[in-house]
This record gives sequence, structure tokens and C-alpha cells, in this order.
Amino acid sequence: MTISGDLLDLIRNSQRITVLTGSGISAESGIPTFRDALTGLWANYSPEELATPEAYYKNPSLVWKWYAWRRQLISQAQPNPAHQVLARMQSRVAGFTLLTQNVDGLHQRAGSTSVVEYHGNIMRTRCSRHGCMTDVPPIEGEPPACPECSAMLRPDVVWFGESIPNHAQFTAVTASEDCQLFIAIGTSGIVYPAASLAQLAQSKGARFLEINLDRTPLSSMADFRLQGPAGEILPELEQAAWPDVR
Ligand code: OAD
Repeated sequence: MTISGDLLDLIRNSQRITVLTGSGISAESGIPTFRDALTGLWANYSPEELATPEAYYKNPSLVWKWYAWRRQLISQAQPNPAHQVLARMQSRVAGFTLLTQNVDGLHQRAGSTSVVEYHGNIMRTRCSRHGCMTDVPPIEGEPPACPECSAMLRPDVVWFGESIPNHAQFTAVTASEDCQLFIAIGTSGIVYPAASLAQLAQSKGARFLEINLDRTPLSSMADFRLQGPAGEILPELEQAAWPDVR
């Protein structure tokens, strides 16, 4: 892989870097990407049948079972070298913001702090009626009841058609508008509003680097592209930018 000198200078000299990750960064940890997760066992379902409030109210057992299956995969998975590089970057770059669409918590397990969970976290549960967070673990079986009001609990994730939590949206917009370099890693760039952040950053003067296995709808606007598995590209990029890294 050839990494341009311009990109390395930009990485070394940027005081503010904002990174947006998608499910591709966890693929090498053995967690299928969002769209790949709908193959195999779940091939007969569309995202709308599993990740919408309507789907949950129509068939809570089915949706809960899908989340239980994903939670089990996540709990067996370990962060990979791509997560680890991002965890180290937070101490190298003064203004480093990590936004993730992933609900798997692997960035935090790799050591990243202050991760902005744009789509929530699958390991938490909240009340489907009042939205309050609970300590109830997301057990298998049927959806548990809220200890306060007995409504069904739901995973604390953002479903299609739902809004991004206010604080996450505010931080994401601010960090995108303020950065000098915006990096999108392992995201298909088709789910909004996350997909609009790269353009927002560019419109305010940032350069945009895309790291992905394939081309995406964001590729044509990228200033730099590194194509391949994130778990290989990020360690190479880190080594090239900061050769003192062991
Ligand atoms: P997708 O499943 O849509 O896309 C995964 C992206 O990762 C694709 O562009 C792949 O080419 C890329 N990819 C796969 N393996 C990779 C690897 N090893 N290294 C680098 N890239 C790789 O996942 P997301 O973009 O995260 O939202 O999906 C965005 C949102 O769509 C999810 O958060 C979820 C879903 O709907 C909600 O549930 C609201």
C-alpha cells in the first residue's frame, strides 16, 4: 500500500482529527457488518423487519432474539488492531474525536475513552415507553419488563426512523465542523445523518480520508482513499505517520 506524503503530513500536523467508524471496523473481530448480519440465519429478513420501532412492537420476540444473537457474537469478540490504533491516536492528537455507528463497545474495550456512540450500545437496555435507562441486563428469551412501569425494555440503540441522541448529534456536528482531517472507516456511507458528516467537515475546510474494503458513495468526494481491511491499513498508517510506534 502506498501512503502519500501529503496524507502523512496532514495526520502528523492536524491538531483536530475526527474519525467516524462503521461496522466494517469490527468485521475482522468476527462481527458481521450490519448488512452481512442479515445473511445466513437472518437472510429472510430486511433491516426494516428487525431494526425499527414498528418491527419491535409487531414482533418483540423476533427482534429481541436478533439482538440476543448479535450480543452473543459481540461478547465473544475481541478488539482488533484497527480499534487499538484508534485508541492510541487519542493520546497523539490533541483534539481527537471518535464517533462510531457501532453498538458493540469494542472501541471502549480497546482503550478509547469519550467515544461518541452515535447509534447507541447493544449491551444497555431502556424503557420502550419512557426512554429511561435501566440496569436490567439484556437477557435472552423474551424482552424483560421495565422495573418502573412494566413496559417492555428495548435495546438502547437507534433504530431506522429514530433520531440520534441529542448529545451525540451535537458532538458529532461540532467535531466534524471543527476538524482539519475527517476519517471514515468501514462505513457504507448510506445511512443518514452519519453519512452527511464527511461532507459537513469538507464544507468547513477539512480534508477527508476514506478507509474501506470497497468503494462507497462517499468515495468520489474523498481527498485520500486507502482501500483494504481496516485491521491492516490502520497499523500501517500509524507506523508510517509515527515511526517510533512499536
Ligand atoms: P454496513 O454494513 O452498511 O457497511 C459496512 C462497510 O464496511 C462496507 O462499506 C464494507 O465495504 C466495509 N468493510 C467491511 N469489512 C471491512 C474491513 N475489514 N475493513 C474496512 N472496511 C470494511 O455498516 P455501516 O456503514 O456501519 O444503523 O452501517 C451504518 C448503519 O446502518 C449501522 O450503524 C446501522 C445500519 O442501519 C442502525 O442500526 C441505525
